Amino acid sequence: MSHSGTLSPLEARASSALGGDARVPGDKSISHRALILGALAVGETRITGLLEGEDVINTAKAMGALGARVARGDDGSWTVRGVGVAGFAEPAAPLDFGNSGTGCRLVMGAVAGCPITATFDGDASLRKRPMRRILDPLELMGARAIAAAEGGRLPLTLRGARDPLPIVYRSPVASAQIKSAVLLAGLSAPGVTTVIEPEASRDHTEIMLAHFGADIVSTPEGAHGRRIALTGQPELHGAPVVVPADPSSAAFPLVAALVVEGSDILLTDVMTNPLRTGLFTTLREMGAQIEESHGRRDTGEPMANLRVRASRLRGVEVPAERAPSMIDEYLVLAVAAAFAEGTTTMRGLTELRVKESDRLAATADMLRVNGVRVEISGDDLIVEGRGHVPGGGVVATHMDHRIAMSALVMGLAADAAVRIDDSRFIATSFPDFVPMMRRLGADIG
Ligand code: S3P
Repeated sequence: MSHSGTLSPLEARASSALGGDARVPGDKSISHRALILGALAVGETRITGLLEGEDVINTAKAMGALGARVARGDDGSWTVRGVGVAGFAEPAAPLDFGNSGTGCRLVMGAVAGCPITATFDGDASLRKRPMRRILDPLELMGARAIAAAEGGRLPLTLRGARDPLPIVYRSPVASAQIKSAVLLAGLSAPGVTTVIEPEASRDHTEIMLAHFGADIVSTPEGAHGRRIALTGQPELHGAPVVVPADPSSAAFPLVAALVVEGSDILLTDVMTNPLRTGLFTTLREMGAQIEESHGRRDTGEPMANLRVRASRLRGVEVPAERAPSMIDEYLVLAVAAAFAEGTTTMRGLTELRVKESDRLAATADMLRVNGVRVEISGDDLIVEGRGHVPGGGVVATHMDHRIAMSALVMGLAADAAVRIDDSRFIATSFPDFVPMMRRLGADIG
């Protein structure tokens, strides 16, 4: 899905109180992993609640191209018939991951452990993103990038290892994508593959590997890190997966309800894995009224319903070590911070520079064009909240779904409408965003 052609601008205007219930789509991280692990398992995996966004659909297509049988049932559930660990077949054509770093990097790991060659490609945004961070450990395991654009970027051709080596990899970055790529390659290696991360990143790969029958152990390492050890060459068995609602998508209606006066909404089935809920912690510290109810667990992941009511927010300091648990949420947090009273300082955001866009620069621009005072100081973002946002700006979305949705949320409570240059990339993670927000009462059009 290349999104060539004309831009699709959109505007959000000051709205009256939001109300009602909504279930945002399935978690993107878990959806990718369910398809990939289903493809590497023996037997059938049935997935309910899969996110049917462009990013995940591209991963589903890649699994088909690598030999798995992937199908959508009439009831909306998906089934994957896997090929077994190390069983991928060589794809006939390049694998196109569109906008998705997660799909691309995780599948690179899975391919690295198979004796096949595959070419990975994506859209203009993905072609700019760093892949060396994935290739470095995969090459230590015996895979080779035999062709790549400058700096090891896409399009790149990866030759998987015939005899993958288990390694102990100390990741320089707290990245679930790096960790997961190494673990997925490690599935085909004899012996134990170990990843050590400096700070704990989302652990959905570990949880789902255990659910499919792998022997995987995670222990604390240092103040905030983890050591994850996977025993290679397991027989993975297809297993049912229930995908809870994505907290990173829930973040948009949630912040909208906090800033639009009088709002009171209920977001159902939201995943509450503590490695994903840094935003909720931060917003509560800012004074947000977010009440959890009906907490439960499915397929190893916790979830709950969240009642969110409009709240008076105050500025806070967000510590750097919280970043991995809310890495995709800083854009929308910055919107909440702009409506708060006082300064919000968000520390340690270097990873934001290598997301779907340079999100550190893009967040500052999004706020500035709408009259908010903001500063980037090193890797920190500082937002001066003044209790209201003038608005009236046009936001450049840079092929980034989360900039688009954050800017629209801002427009719902700003003094003047906020416009985005292009809404098409919202479909990568949250195809139903605009109709769902309208159902809650948002004035977007
Ligand atoms: C993801 C990991 C994060 C996150 C991305 C999804 C995942 O990236 O930003 O949206 O599913 O593993 P990094 O691991 O590179 O921080």
